[in-house]
Amino acid sequence: MAQAEGAFLTDVKTLRERARQSLKDGVVTPTYQGDVNKTIEILQNVVATELVCVLRYTFHAVTATGISSEAVKDEFATHAKEEQQHMMQAAERINQLGGKPNFNPEGLLSRSASQYVEGKNLVDMIKENLIAERIAVDHYRELIRYFGDGDPATRVMLEGILSTEEEHANDMQDLLVAHEGKAML
Ligand SMILES: [Fe+2]
Ligand SMILES: [Fe+2]
Repeated sequence: MAQAEGAFLTDVKTLRERARQSLKDGVVTPTYQGDVNKTIEILQNVVATELVCVLRYTFHAVTATGISSEAVKDEFATHAKEEQQHMMQAAERINQLGGKPNFNPEGLLSRSASQYVEGKNLVDMIKENLIAERIAVDHYRELIRYFGDGDPATRVMLEGILSTEEEHANDMQDLLVAHEGKAML
């Protein structure tokens, strides 16, 4: 089956032949248009970012106290779980691309876009999480644009993560409105 002049699809024979070559490269086939090492490096930062979010939300879920803090604690705990799922998605993707996810606690914060701030009270905690979510939203939007069509699977994964981060930011904003000014005692 020959490829017609101007066709954008590779003919089946070539596809089949190519797939049999370089099997050790797994999903990184000749149509992978990104720079796989750069992708892995970016995804290492995503793993670190999500891991820092897991740690911060977990700390907040355990230590938040005060009137009406129970619902907030539950929200923090739910977010911690979802950040952990994001971390796993990015780590799995690194593995698919032939890399090794970096879970080394050493240098974790410098690899992460988000920050680890404990916060002095409930409102502070909510604010810090809102800030972290806004950082994540900005960061992931840029990465989605960067990946474009060069690595659609990574882009789609990040799009899914982004929509959860937007929900997280919205949740934190709602909590901030509800709790602003209330001291944690
Ligand atoms: Fe996340
Ligand atoms: Fe988040």
